Amino acid sequence: MRSMARALGVGMLAACVAAAGCGNSRSGSGHKRILIGFSMDSLQLERWQHDRDIFVARAKQLGADVLVQSADGNDATQVQQSEDLLTNGVDVLVVVPHNGDIAASIVKSAKRQHVPVLSYDRLIRNSDVDFYISFDNVRVGELQAKYLLDRAPKGNYVLIGGAPTDNNAQLLRQGQMKVLQPAIDRGDIKIVADQWSKDWLPSEALAHTENALTQNHNDVVAVVASNDSTAGGVVQALQEQKLAGKALVSGQDADLAACQRIADGTQSMTVYKPIRLLAARAAEIAVELAKHESVQSNATVNNGFKNVPSYLLEPVVVDKSNLPQTVIKDGFLRAADVYRDLPRDQWPKAVQ
Ligand code: GAL
Repeated sequence: MRSMARALGVGMLAACVAAAGCGNSRSGSGHKRILIGFSMDSLQLERWQHDRDIFVARAKQLGADVLVQSADGNDATQVQQSEDLLTNGVDVLVVVPHNGDIAASIVKSAKRQHVPVLSYDRLIRNSDVDFYISFDNVRVGELQAKYLLDRAPKGNYVLIGGAPTDNNAQLLRQGQMKVLQPAIDRGDIKIVADQWSKDWLPSEALAHTENALTQNHNDVVAVVASNDSTAGGVVQALQEQKLAGKALVSGQDADLAACQRIADGTQSMTVYKPIRLLAARAAEIAVELAKHESVQSNATVNNGFKNVPSYLLEPVVVDKSNLPQTVIKDGFLRAADVYRDLPRDQWPKAVQ
């Protein structure tokens, strides 16, 4: 039945994004090729394009095909697309949930059809998800807050969180407050604004930061932005008040625009999560789950329903001092792009 669904389904799928995706369901040796369904919240932000490309390439190396679907940030679309992938006979479903609670229905449907589910980089809550792979997002929040607190130990702080529907946004805030709370209790710093950014949109962060600066007469020493797309909105608001490069700003994802801001001095730091490690390992796990093999975990994370076997990778702090030794050395970004706005003689020696 599943192979029939697979044969009929692939043609039915509205769009097959992955280069390695739509195709034969048999390898040359006559063995059934594994078919992976990859349901992504969105491909709008830069990092997810890296995730998709690296995942698909690794899956192909492992002899698996991938059907990628992007829900463009819409929950109903993601649920429907996941149903389509299951109808197409995928052997495993990998999901980047737009909403960690709504995506539980995707897991229920997959489990009814005996298809394992890998929660990718964001945890699907309250469901029998098989495995979770991500970076330690509480640790990411701690790194963001510590970097700023070490350099701005006193003054007014603004918190610009991510999407309230994204479990990661809550974990980041947990980590940030673990670091900031003692300084708040001592009266050293004061949180003068605490907002969330729908879908991690720069426009949301821009508006929240403009309001915070107005209400506090620009008396802000640091903005804890939870990722680089929101940091972009924060920096734009600071630039409007000639505060860019004066108020400290955190980030996450090592987006090109953020690393350019770090090189130019308007963003203080980002947290680099080597996507090549995350996406490649996720493809390996997807194949292992499809083959019903045991999967190596290094943690368990409770999702409200169970302790989910997990694999958490270590995030890396990146600032002006180590851009060459991290994102450039890894080939994640090119020096010519990162230092685009600087004369060559101001580039770090390591990349000149
Ligand atoms: C989060 C992720 C961040 C960032 C954000 C924007 O789930 O943890 O690294 O990518 O999504 O999509």
